[in-house]
Amino acid sequence: MSQLIEQIDKGHLPVHIAVIMDGNGRWAQEKGEDRLFGHYHGVESVRDVVEVCAELGIQYLTLYAFSTENWERPADEVTGLMELLVSTIKKEAEILNRNNIRLHVIGDVGMLPASAQEELNEALELTIKNTGLNLVMALSYSGRWDLENAARKIAQKAKEGLLQPQDITGEVLKQNLSTADFPDPELMIRTSGEYRISNFLLYELAYSELYFTDVRWPDFRKNNLYEAILNFQNRQRRFGKTSVRVQK
Ligand code: IPE
Ligand code: IPE
Ligand code: MG
Repeated sequence: MSQLIEQIDKGHLPVHIAVIMDGNGRWAQEKGEDRLFGHYHGVESVRDVVEVCAELGIQYLTLYAFSTENWERPADEVTGLMELLVSTIKKEAEILNRNNIRLHVIGDVGMLPASAQEELNEALELTIKNTGLNLVMALSYSGRWDLENAARKIAQKAKEGLLQPQDITGEVLKQNLSTADFPDPELMIRTSGEYRISNFLLYELAYSELYFTDVRWPDFRKNNLYEAILNFQNRQRRFGKTSVRVQK
Protein backbone atom coordinates (compact mmCIF):
# COMPACT_ATOMS: atom_id res chain seq x y z
CA MET A 1 0.00 0.00 0.00
CA SER A 2 1.33 3.40 -0.89
CA GLN A 3 2.02 5.86 1.86
CA LEU A 4 -0.97 7.96 2.90
CA ILE A 5 0.88 11.16 2.12
CA GLU A 6 1.32 10.06 -1.50
CA GLN A 7 -2.43 9.69 -1.88
CA ILE A 8 -3.03 13.35 -1.04
CA ASP A 9 -3.88 15.55 -4.02
CA LYS A 10 -1.50 18.48 -3.56
CA GLY A 11 -3.62 20.60 -5.90
CA HIS A 12 -6.71 20.29 -3.70
CA LEU A 13 -5.52 21.04 -0.19
CA PRO A 14 -7.54 22.97 2.35
CA VAL A 15 -6.11 26.48 2.70
CA HIS A 16 -7.06 26.57 6.37
CA ILE A 17 -7.34 23.68 8.83
CA ALA A 18 -8.72 24.23 12.34
CA VAL A 19 -8.35 21.70 15.14
CA ILE A 20 -10.05 21.15 18.49
CA MET A 21 -7.27 19.30 20.27
CA ASP A 22 -9.33 17.26 22.71
CA GLY A 23 -8.82 14.20 24.90
CA ASN A 24 -5.56 14.92 26.73
CA GLY A 25 -7.11 14.40 30.16
CA ARG A 26 -8.77 11.09 29.34
CA TRP A 27 -5.66 9.83 27.54
CA ALA A 28 -3.64 10.40 30.72
CA GLN A 29 -6.27 9.06 33.10
CA GLU A 30 -6.60 5.88 31.04
CA LYS A 31 -2.90 5.36 31.71
CA GLY A 32 -3.35 6.03 35.42
CA GLU A 33 -1.60 9.37 35.10
CA ASP A 34 -2.42 12.93 35.99
CA ARG A 35 -4.31 15.03 33.40
CA LEU A 36 -1.28 17.27 32.97
CA PHE A 37 0.70 14.28 31.72
CA GLY A 38 -1.75 14.23 28.81
CA HIS A 39 -1.29 17.92 28.10
CA TYR A 40 2.49 17.47 27.99
CA HIS A 41 2.17 14.66 25.48
CA GLY A 42 -0.31 16.71 23.48
CA VAL A 43 2.54 19.07 22.61
CA GLU A 44 4.16 16.28 20.58
CA SER A 45 1.02 16.02 18.49
CA VAL A 46 1.07 19.78 17.96
CA ARG A 47 4.60 19.44 16.63
CA ASP A 48 3.57 16.67 14.21
CA VAL A 49 0.55 18.56 12.91
CA VAL A 50 2.52 21.79 12.44
CA GLU A 51 5.23 19.87 10.59
CA VAL A 52 2.75 18.23 8.24
CA CYS A 53 1.01 21.51 7.46
CA ALA A 54 4.32 23.26 6.80
CA GLU A 55 5.52 20.39 4.57
CA LEU A 56 2.31 20.18 2.57
CA GLY A 57 2.08 23.94 2.13
CA ILE A 58 -1.14 24.45 4.09
CA GLN A 59 -1.40 28.21 4.60
CA TYR A 60 -3.31 28.43 7.90
CA LEU A 61 -3.55 26.13 10.89
CA THR A 62 -5.68 27.21 13.85
CA LEU A 63 -5.28 25.23 17.07
CA TYR A 64 -7.79 25.50 19.91
CA ALA A 65 -5.46 25.28 22.89
CA PHE A 66 -7.44 26.92 25.71
CA SER A 67 -11.05 28.09 25.72
CA THR A 68 -12.74 30.85 27.69
CA GLU A 69 -14.56 28.09 29.59
CA ASN A 70 -11.31 26.25 30.40
CA TRP A 71 -10.55 28.93 33.02
CA GLU A 72 -13.13 27.15 35.18
CA ARG A 73 -11.01 24.01 35.46
CA PRO A 74 -9.23 23.26 38.76
CA ALA A 75 -6.55 25.85 39.53
CA ASP A 76 -3.68 23.37 39.40
CA GLU A 77 -4.65 22.23 35.91
CA VAL A 78 -4.95 25.84 34.68
CA THR A 79 -1.59 26.76 36.22
CA GLY A 80 0.01 23.65 34.73
CA LEU A 81 -1.39 24.47 31.27
CA MET A 82 -0.10 28.05 31.48
CA GLU A 83 3.35 26.83 32.50
CA LEU A 84 3.31 24.39 29.62
CA LEU A 85 2.35 27.20 27.27
CA VAL A 86 5.26 29.37 28.42
CA SER A 87 7.85 26.58 28.27
CA THR A 88 6.62 25.36 24.88
CA ILE A 89 6.75 28.79 23.25
CA LYS A 90 10.19 29.36 24.73
CA LYS A 91 11.40 26.08 23.27
CA GLU A 92 9.63 26.21 19.91
CA ALA A 93 9.76 29.87 18.82
CA GLU A 94 13.19 29.52 17.19
CA ILE A 95 12.13 26.32 15.42
CA LEU A 96 9.00 27.99 14.06
CA ASN A 97 11.12 30.87 12.86
CA ARG A 98 13.66 28.63 11.14
CA ASN A 99 10.81 26.97 9.30
CA ASN A 100 9.37 30.26 8.05
CA ILE A 101 6.25 29.78 10.21
CA ARG A 102 4.42 32.87 11.44
CA LEU A 103 2.70 32.69 14.81
CA HIS A 104 -0.63 34.45 15.48
CA VAL A 105 -2.80 34.45 18.60
CA ILE A 106 -6.55 34.86 18.87
CA GLY A 107 -8.45 35.21 22.14
CA ASP A 108 -8.59 37.31 25.26
CA VAL A 109 -4.81 37.31 25.66
CA GLY A 110 -4.98 39.89 28.47
CA MET A 111 -6.37 37.11 30.68
CA LEU A 112 -3.15 35.08 30.39
CA PRO A 113 -0.42 35.36 33.03
CA ALA A 114 2.15 38.10 32.30
CA SER A 115 4.90 35.54 31.63
CA ALA A 116 2.78 33.89 28.93
CA GLN A 117 1.96 37.25 27.36
CA GLU A 118 5.65 38.15 27.28
CA GLU A 119 6.70 34.87 25.66
CA LEU A 120 3.90 35.15 23.14
CA ASN A 121 4.76 38.72 22.23
CA GLU A 122 8.38 37.76 21.66
CA ALA A 123 7.41 34.86 19.44
CA LEU A 124 4.91 36.99 17.50
CA GLU A 125 7.58 39.60 16.93
CA LEU A 126 10.24 37.05 16.02
CA THR A 127 8.09 35.39 13.35
CA ILE A 128 6.26 38.46 12.02
CA LYS A 129 8.02 38.52 8.66
CA ASN A 130 7.66 34.82 7.92
CA THR A 131 5.75 33.87 4.81
CA GLY A 132 5.14 30.13 5.22
CA LEU A 133 2.51 28.48 7.41
CA ASN A 134 0.40 30.83 9.56
CA LEU A 135 0.01 29.08 12.91
CA VAL A 136 -2.92 30.58 14.81
CA MET A 137 -3.15 29.67 18.50
CA ALA A 138 -6.58 30.15 20.07
CA LEU A 139 -5.90 31.00 23.71
CA SER A 140 -8.54 32.09 26.18
CA TYR A 141 -10.65 32.09 23.04
CA SER A 142 -14.28 31.35 22.38
CA GLY A 143 -16.44 32.06 19.36
CA ARG A 144 -19.04 33.88 21.46
CA TRP A 145 -16.37 36.00 23.14
CA ASP A 146 -15.14 37.03 19.70
CA LEU A 147 -18.63 37.84 18.41
CA GLU A 148 -19.43 39.85 21.54
CA ASN A 149 -16.16 41.71 21.11
CA ALA A 150 -16.92 42.43 17.45
CA ALA A 151 -20.39 43.75 18.40
CA ARG A 152 -18.81 46.11 20.94
CA LYS A 153 -16.23 47.38 18.42
CA ILE A 154 -18.89 47.96 15.76
CA ALA A 155 -21.19 49.72 18.26
CA GLN A 156 -18.32 51.99 19.26
CA LYS A 157 -17.67 52.92 15.62
CA ALA A 158 -21.37 53.57 15.08
CA LYS A 159 -21.45 55.76 18.18
CA GLU A 160 -18.52 57.76 16.80
CA GLY A 161 -20.44 58.22 13.56
CA LEU A 162 -17.96 56.13 11.54
CA LEU A 163 -20.58 53.54 10.55
CA GLN A 164 -24.29 53.52 9.79
CA PRO A 165 -26.46 50.45 10.58
CA GLN A 166 -26.90 49.76 6.84
CA ASP A 167 -23.11 49.64 6.46
CA ILE A 168 -22.83 46.67 8.82
CA THR A 169 -22.37 43.88 6.30
CA GLY A 170 -20.94 40.40 6.75
CA GLU A 171 -17.63 41.85 5.60
CA VAL A 172 -17.68 44.48 8.37
CA LEU A 173 -18.53 41.84 10.96
CA LYS A 174 -15.65 39.65 9.73
CA GLN A 175 -13.23 42.58 9.84
CA ASN A 176 -14.02 43.07 13.52
CA LEU A 177 -13.42 39.46 14.51
CA SER A 178 -10.03 38.32 15.79
CA THR A 179 -9.87 36.10 12.70
CA ALA A 180 -10.19 39.07 10.31
CA ASP A 181 -6.89 38.28 8.57
CA PHE A 182 -7.59 34.59 8.01
CA PRO A 183 -9.85 32.84 5.51
CA ASP A 184 -12.55 30.59 6.97
CA PRO A 185 -11.36 27.02 7.62
CA GLU A 186 -12.34 24.47 4.96
CA LEU A 187 -11.67 21.62 7.36
CA MET A 188 -12.29 21.40 11.11
CA ILE A 189 -10.97 18.40 12.99
CA ARG A 190 -11.99 17.36 16.50
CA THR A 191 -10.28 14.51 18.27
CA SER A 192 -11.34 12.22 21.14
CA GLY A 193 -14.82 11.20 20.03
CA GLU A 194 -16.76 14.30 21.05
CA TYR A 195 -19.20 15.59 18.44
CA ARG A 196 -19.50 19.26 19.30
CA ILE A 197 -18.01 22.64 18.52
CA SER A 198 -17.46 23.75 22.17
CA ASN A 199 -17.56 27.46 21.34
CA PHE A 200 -14.81 27.29 18.71
CA LEU A 201 -14.96 29.44 15.52
CA LEU A 202 -18.75 29.87 15.57
CA TYR A 203 -18.96 32.34 12.69
CA GLU A 204 -16.10 30.99 10.62
CA LEU A 205 -17.16 27.32 10.62
CA ALA A 206 -20.41 28.05 8.73
CA TYR A 207 -19.39 25.93 5.72
CA SER A 208 -16.40 24.02 7.04
CA GLU A 209 -16.22 20.28 6.55
CA LEU A 210 -16.24 18.67 10.00
CA TYR A 211 -14.08 15.65 10.71
CA PHE A 212 -14.41 13.77 13.98
CA THR A 213 -12.11 11.00 15.14
CA ASP A 214 -12.07 8.89 18.31
CA VAL A 215 -8.29 9.23 18.54
CA ARG A 216 -7.26 11.16 21.64
CA TRP A 217 -5.16 14.24 20.93
CA PRO A 218 -1.84 12.86 22.33
CA ASP A 219 -2.19 9.91 19.91
CA PHE A 220 -3.02 12.08 16.90
CA ARG A 221 0.03 11.92 14.65
CA LYS A 222 1.03 12.59 11.06
CA ASN A 223 -0.90 9.68 9.58
CA ASN A 224 -4.06 10.76 11.38
CA LEU A 225 -3.83 14.18 9.77
CA TYR A 226 -3.18 12.64 6.34
CA GLU A 227 -6.34 10.55 6.85
CA ALA A 228 -8.37 13.64 7.73
CA ILE A 229 -7.12 15.50 4.65
CA LEU A 230 -7.84 12.50 2.40
CA ASN A 231 -11.33 12.27 3.86
CA PHE A 232 -11.83 15.99 3.14
CA GLN A 233 -10.64 15.53 -0.44
CA ASN A 234 -13.33 12.92 -1.05
CA ARG A 235 -16.17 15.22 -0.06
CA GLN A 236 -18.15 17.56 -2.24
CA ARG A 237 -18.69 21.00 -0.76
CA ARG A 238 -21.98 22.36 -2.04
CA PHE A 239 -22.47 25.65 -0.12
CA GLY A 240 -26.24 25.28 -0.32
CA LYS A 241 -26.27 24.66 -4.07
CA THR A 242 -27.10 21.48 -5.98
CA SER A 243 -24.34 19.09 -7.10
CA VAL A 244 -24.75 20.14 -10.72
CA ARG A 245 -24.43 23.81 -9.87
CA VAL A 246 -21.31 23.19 -7.78
CA GLN A 247 -19.56 21.46 -10.68
CA LYS A 248 -20.09 24.42 -12.99
C1 IPE B 1 -7.97 19.17 25.56
O1 IPE B 1 -7.98 18.03 26.34
C2 IPE B 1 -7.02 20.22 26.05
C3 IPE B 1 -7.66 21.39 26.66
C4 IPE B 1 -8.93 21.63 26.69
C5 IPE B 1 -6.78 22.36 27.28
P1 IPE B 1 -8.91 17.92 27.63
O2 IPE B 1 -8.15 18.44 28.79
O3 IPE B 1 -10.22 18.56 27.38
O4 IPE B 1 -9.07 16.36 27.76
P2 IPE B 1 -10.39 15.58 28.10
O5 IPE B 1 -11.43 16.00 27.11
O6 IPE B 1 -10.78 15.92 29.49
O7 IPE B 1 -10.02 14.14 27.94
C1 IPE C 1 -12.53 22.32 23.79
O1 IPE C 1 -12.37 21.19 24.56
C2 IPE C 1 -11.47 23.33 24.09
C3 IPE C 1 -10.12 22.98 23.68
C4 IPE C 1 -9.74 21.90 23.07
C5 IPE C 1 -9.13 23.97 23.99
P1 IPE C 1 -13.11 20.99 25.96
O2 IPE C 1 -12.69 19.68 26.46
O3 IPE C 1 -12.86 22.16 26.82
O4 IPE C 1 -14.64 21.00 25.53
P2 IPE C 1 -15.88 20.22 26.17
O5 IPE C 1 -15.86 20.52 27.63
O6 IPE C 1 -15.68 18.79 25.88
O7 IPE C 1 -17.07 20.77 25.46
MG1 MG D 1 -11.96 17.89 26.62
